Amino acid sequence: MRKKLIAGNWKMHLVPVEARALIAAIRAEIDHDAAALAKDRDVMVAPPDILIPAVAQALAGSSILLGAQNMHYEDKGAFTGEVSPPMLNAYGVTHVIAGHSERRHIFHETDELINRKVLAALKHRMAPILCVGETQDEHDSGRALDVVLDQLRRGLENVGDDQVTAVAIAYEPVWAIGTGRNATPDQAESVHAAIRSAILQRYGPERASAVRIIYGGSVNADNVDSLVSKPDIDGALVGGASLKADSFARIVRARTR
Ligand code: PGA
Repeated sequence: MRKKLIAGNWKMHLVPVEARALIAAIRAEIDHDAAALAKDRDVMVAPPDILIPAVAQALAGSSILLGAQNMHYEDKGAFTGEVSPPMLNAYGVTHVIAGHSERRHIFHETDELINRKVLAALKHRMAPILCVGETQDEHDSGRALDVVLDQLRRGLENVGDDQVTAVAIAYEPVWAIGTGRNATPDQAESVHAAIRSAILQRYGPERASAVRIIYGGSVNADNVDSLVSKPDIDGALVGGASLKADSFARIVRARTR
């Protein structure tokens, strides 16, 4: 069985003192039954890069995993303002979000660039979380699946048979991010199933059934259960609701069936 993945994306929020306090509050809520939770789910938080050292320290001794929201694909070089895979590795980062819609739309990241990041994360033994999702216009004009499957295919270019199960896919309809409007569980499930079947066609049934496909877009304490209890929804990528310990802890405890 696939383990669920509950991932918090802090985006560009918090300063170190707030980040430490948030981790302490999350730990106060979930540490006492971390072992039970860890049986069927992984929990991860992705702070802004500059907070990673403080958060790594605050997570010492916890089973909560540390993620990054983005990274450059080269190991080092003249790339002003960027952060490399070895820099993230040095702080124990295990997951890297690649191609979040805010990176695609605000910072004009292309599928080719995102694919390089996916390959770089794998090369450095970090698990990429490849984000895909259609805009409101694409949704309204009935092109959601075409867009999502195209982003998937391009994002996984040159990802080998032996690597694909380390990748998680995040389906995040752009119209649902930060809007309070989320896809219904059935809507999301049908896209997740289509993503899994595309992975199956390319990588075979065993690998397809091992790849985690998580949902993102206005996930909160009230809607998480109905989403993650769907057969192909393997967890959640949570923005706004991951910034409050009580709501994130509730999401971490989602009922999965
Ligand atoms: P949201 O963000 O939960 O605030 O909608 C999700 C995301 O962008 O990953």
